This record gives sequence, C-alpha cells and structure tokens, in this order.
Amino acid sequence: MKIGIVGAGNVGRFYGERWVGRGHAVAFSYARDVGRLEAFVAGLGPSASVLEVEDVAAYSDVVVFSPPFEQIEHAAARMGGATGKVLIDTTNPFNPERTGLVELGTATSAGIVAGLFPGALVVKALHNLSLAQAGDATGRGPAVMFLAGEHNGAKETAARLIVDAGFAPFDTGALSAAKLSEAPGPLFMNVYGVTEVAEAVAHATAHR
Ligand SMILES: NC(=O)c1ccc[n+]([C@@H]2O[C@H](COP(=O)([O-])OP(=O)(O)OC[C@H]3O[C@@H](n4cnc5c(N)ncnc54)[C@H](OP(=O)(O)O)[C@@H]3O)[C@@H](O)[C@H]2O)c1
Repeated sequence: MKIGIVGAGNVGRFYGERWVGRGHAVAFSYARDVGRLEAFVAGLGPSASVLEVEDVAAYSDVVVFSPPFEQIEHAAARMGGATGKVLIDTTNPFNPERTGLVELGTATSAGIVAGLFPGALVVKALHNLSLAQAGDATGRGPAVMFLAGEHNGAKETAARLIVDAGFAPFDTGALSAAKLSEAPGPLFMNVYGVTEVAEAVAHATAHR
C-alpha cells in the first residue's frame, strides 16, 4: 500500500517506520526541520520518501493525517483535499501548549477533520494510546487500537494497517463514536487487550 503521512512527528514516524517494515511504501511530509526528516527517511531505506504536503493525496492510497490539533485547518488547506482517499485522522483536541484539552462539547476532532475533507473516506484511528503505551504494550500481546468511521471498506483498510503496526483493531462504529476513544473519552489512554475490550466498550457506550 502507498501511505502518505501529513505531520511526520512522533506519531507519523512511529507508525510509518513499522509500516515500512511490513513492506508498505511510506511518504513522510512536513517537518520544519526538513534535514532531520530526510535523515530519518534515509535510515528507513528505499520504501520511504519525503514529499511536500501538497503532493501527499495524489501519491497515497491512504493518507495519515497527524498534525497538532491547532494546525488541522492549515494542514488541510495545504493538502488541497483528499477526495476518494482513505484518510486516517490521528488527532486529539489538545491546545497549542499541549497542557490541556480544547473543549469540543458534543463535537469530535474526527468530525471536524471530516468536515475539512469533503469526499474523503475518513477513519478515526491510531489516536487512543500514547506512544509510550503503544511502545510498551507489545510485550503484553497486541493492544487495542480503536477505529470509527462511516465507510466500511475504509475501516477495513485502516484495520489492516493497525495489524501491520502490531496492534489489534476494534471498530466502535460510526465516526461519532470517536467521542468514546478521543481525548477525553472514557476509552482514551487505556490499554486494552483483545479479551477485555468488548466489555469496556459496552460499558463506555452505556455511560455515554
Ligand atoms: N504523541 C502521542 O502519543 C499521540 C498519540 C496519539 C495521537 N496523537 C495526536 O496525533 C497528532 C500528532 O501528534 P504527535 O505527537 O506526532 O505531534 P508532533 O510530534 O508535534 O508532530 C506533529 C507533526 O505535524 C507537523 N505539522 C505542524 N504544523 C503542520 C501543518 N500546518 N501542516 C502539516 N504538518 C504540520 C509538525 O511539524 P514540525 O516537526 O515542524 O513541528 C510535526 O511533524 C496530534 O494531533 C496528537 O494529539 C498523539
């Protein structure tokens, strides 16, 4: 699969490196320090590349949208759309200092991102664990990564990439269900194994 990452920071690099290891072609885009990004990409071998944000959608089968929350409008505008593409939104609504949450009421970061990409097949995923948790969790068997979205085919694609990154996908339903697993939802930053996740989701849904 050809995967394009917009916002090649901690999250984009963590998953991108794993996908390269599983045989995917991964293009990384946007870091103010392009030299560091190029050095990182060179270390991953010929399946990894650096692209301009403006070129990511055309290149990709799947776009991973991973800028800081306060940059989502700017990043989306630079991309110029992603019509017909699977777009995985990793964002959580933290403020620019990353010290606190942005209050979204009943809205979700996923819904806001979907509004920026009309015609894209938006899936919320890769957002519910901190990278420290994601890195540690592998010793306990695959940890659960939640996904949510309106398009079943796109969710199947995202689920495949979650497995390829070493995790276990769990589909919570429509895009609005991202409220459960995005910050500050009840499923956010809890490490679940595959045997316990269904009960945790049922409990979170019942107490929504
Ligand atoms: N860190 C975690 O554990 C974690 C886990 C799950 C989800 N998330 C969410 O995933 C997203 C990324 O988190 P992160 O920790 O990877 O953040 P990060 O390390 O700060 O990386 C964000 C990346 O986005 C780039 N960027 C900034 N402005 C941009 C713009 N206008 N257009 C395109 N790219 C832009 C940054 O470039 P520069 O390098 O130049 O700053 C950086 O490469 C956030 O929304 C976060 O809430 C984070």
